[in-house]
Amino acid sequence: MAKELSFLTNNSDETLALARRYSDIICPGDLIFLDGELGAGKTTFVRGMMRGLGFLGKVKSPSYSLMEQYVLNFTINHFDLYRFKSASEWEGAGFSEFINKTDVNLIEWSEKAMDALPTPDLIIFFTYTDQDGSDGRNVRFKSLTSRGEQCIDLLV
Ligand SMILES: Nc1ncnc2c1ncn2[C@@H]1O[C@H](COP(=O)(O)OP(=O)(O)OP(=O)(O)O)[C@@H](O)[C@H]1O
Ligand SMILES: [Mg+2]
Repeated sequence: MAKELSFLTNNSDETLALARRYSDIICPGDLIFLDGELGAGKTTFVRGMMRGLGFLGKVKSPSYSLMEQYVLNFTINHFDLYRFKSASEWEGAGFSEFINKTDVNLIEWSEKAMDALPTPDLIIFFTYTDQDGSDGRNVRFKSLTSRGEQCIDLLV
């Protein structure tokens, strides 16, 4: 059974703090999709996670590079597939080799390669709480595997 858990964040600092909490439960092999409109907070969340994992350097959006990699106690691969025109670009770029049991994979704009990607453990959906561009965001976690369920249980 899929589990869901939602949070409201009032500003980017609260999203960073939520992501730091989440970083405590991340494990090698986790596959996470981050979904939501442009500017909804996906990269901000990854930035908070990386801080939580002890990475002090710059966490850049991979919107142009497509992928940023961080090698800590384990490797974290952060993708942004917004610029993909078809799902076949995932294989073409050689990205499938990164989905394994040892790396953490975080994928923004997964829908651009949905047919090429395995089922993630978790999807984190980011939505604006208001239409007027203010700072409120809804951050909703949904599990798709038993590992994802475990993550949600640990976050409650
Ligand atoms: N509650 C909030 N949570 C996260 N970011 C917020 C929040 N309120 C305001 N912001 C701002 O919104 C922007 C979010 O940008 P971010 O790059 O994280 O979005 P994104 O979802 O990764 O967008 P893209 O699809 O373009 O990659 C930042 O400028 C951030 O400071
Ligand atoms: Mg982003």
